[in-house]
This record gives sequence, C-alpha cells and structure tokens, in this order.
Amino acid sequence: MDGLSNAPYRYIETRKIAGALGAEVHGVNLAEPLPPEVLAEVRQALLENLVIFFRDQDMTPDRLLAFARNWGEIHRHPYIAGMPGYPDVLELAKKAGDTRNFGGDWHTDQMFAPRPAMGTMLWCKTAPDAGGDTLFSNQYLAYETLSDGMKALIGTIRGIAVGDKKKNGQTRAAVNAATVSGYTTLEAPAEMRRSPHPLVRTHPETGRKSLYIGGHVHYLENMTEEESEPLISYLYNHSQRPDFTCRFRWEAGSLAFWDNRCTMHFAINDYPPGTRMMHRVTVAGDEPF
Ligand code: OGA
Ligand code: MN
Repeated sequence: MDGLSNAPYRYIETRKIAGALGAEVHGVNLAEPLPPEVLAEVRQALLENLVIFFRDQDMTPDRLLAFARNWGEIHRHPYIAGMPGYPDVLELAKKAGDTRNFGGDWHTDQMFAPRPAMGTMLWCKTAPDAGGDTLFSNQYLAYETLSDGMKALIGTIRGIAVGDKKKNGQTRAAVNAATVSGYTTLEAPAEMRRSPHPLVRTHPETGRKSLYIGGHVHYLENMTEEESEPLISYLYNHSQRPDFTCRFRWEAGSLAFWDNRCTMHFAINDYPPGTRMMHRVTVAGDEPF
C-alpha cells in the first residue's frame, strides 16, 4: 500500500488527492443508474474520504438528479431559482464581467435551514483555463485537534446560522445580484432564514464528531454579538487550517460530491475575466445533533 488509496474496493478505484480528505473515484459512469454493489462502494468512498470526485462525466440535469436521489430527497435552495424546468438544479454561471463568485468563503451548504443539505453534487460544464479551484476542509480533524477544554466548552453551545444577510450587513439579494449575473433571488420563508445548530455535531452514519462553524454562523445562542465574535472567529480560523484541506482542480465533466455534515468548502475567485459554468444539486439532510 502506498498510503494513497483506501481499503480495497471491487468495483471502483479511489485515489486520494490529499492527506486530510478528498479522493478521485474511477470506474464509474454517473450517466447511467449505478448497480447496487457499485453504489454501496461509492457510499463507502464518500464516508471514508468526505468529498469524492469523478472525471469525464456526461451529465444532464436529469442525470444529476437521478444520481442525487440515491442519497434521498432533494434539498431545494430557498433563495435561488433553479434552471428553467428544473427548480432543483442550480446553474452557477460566472461570466467575464462578474467580479464576485458563488461560495467564495468557507461554508457548509444551506446551514441556515433547520435541516441543512446532507450533501452537494457539483458538475462542471465549463472550467476556466486556469484557476477556479475549490478548497475543502475536514471538520472531523478540526474538532479532534481542539483541546479537551475547548471541546467541553463548545459542546454545550449552539451557533445561529443566518441565510439572508452576510456578516458585512449586505442582504442575500444584493450579494446574489453582485455575484452571478442572471440570478433570480427568491423570498425565503422565515424558517429558512436562520437556524440554531450545535457547534459540535455528530455524523449520523459514522458516529464521529465534527466542528460545525460555517460562515453562516453570525452569533452564539443566548450571547451578544460582541460576546460571540471572539469564539466564532477563533473556531472559524481554526477550521480552515491548511493541513485540514484539499484543493480540487476542475475540468469540463468533473463532478464533486461532498458531505456537508463533516466538511466545509471555499470557491476560489482567481480567474477574472475567465468564465466558469457549474450545475448543482443538494441532497436533503437531517437536523444536526
Ligand atoms: C456550492 C459552492 C463551490 C464552487 O455549490 O455550494 O459553494 O467551487 N460551490 O463553485
Ligand atoms: Mn457551497
């Protein structure tokens, strides 16, 4: 063993892209329904690697939805309209004149919802010639590397995740308008605007604890903003340590599937005036505990 592959699989091959998390999965064609024995190995690969990547996939909105439904219901984004005829598929299109990008801070998806997305499938239709990579970070490691004192302290605290405002006070509509041209921002119901979640969550499948401190966390429950800020900022900085991360280089046809219950991600905006076009589906999740 070279340390770069996982426990043996029969139907797929995995190649880790970093020490902390992330693996490319080979031998799978996502354009067709996966036989149960292959699907079982892909599930295992996700749990072992936290984010998995597939190359050269010939996806359509219907194929993306079919792959996602292997993991459960679809989580419809409350703030952003889907593609024509596909309310559950978002098109993230960064055009030459766009200065901001979607997902350009460390976060975990739809954390402002009471039941945030379990996972996200992101397929690349067009990649810039260089740049536009995505970073991922392992939040099991982020939790495990805290001191026992800090683990005990934050084990009792909930963070309030906010969806309709950024920390700089900008509204979601303003951010969306400035981020990706052609967005339609939806009026989200009140329960999808802010939700309390434990700062330490337990993964329902692996039983492991992870830090849950995405960029949507604005306050700590029952504390003032001033009181919350130092702890949030300590944990948020800690959660991004380079040794917890991997970096994925997109090509047309690449598909990433990440587990939002134990990772964060960050879309790097280093390619203006390059263009990038992605299709995105999120799978419904449970209430974090
Ligand atoms: C997302 C996201 C990252 C990227 O789709 O949730 O944050 O690299 N995207 O586009
Ligand atoms: Mn995201």
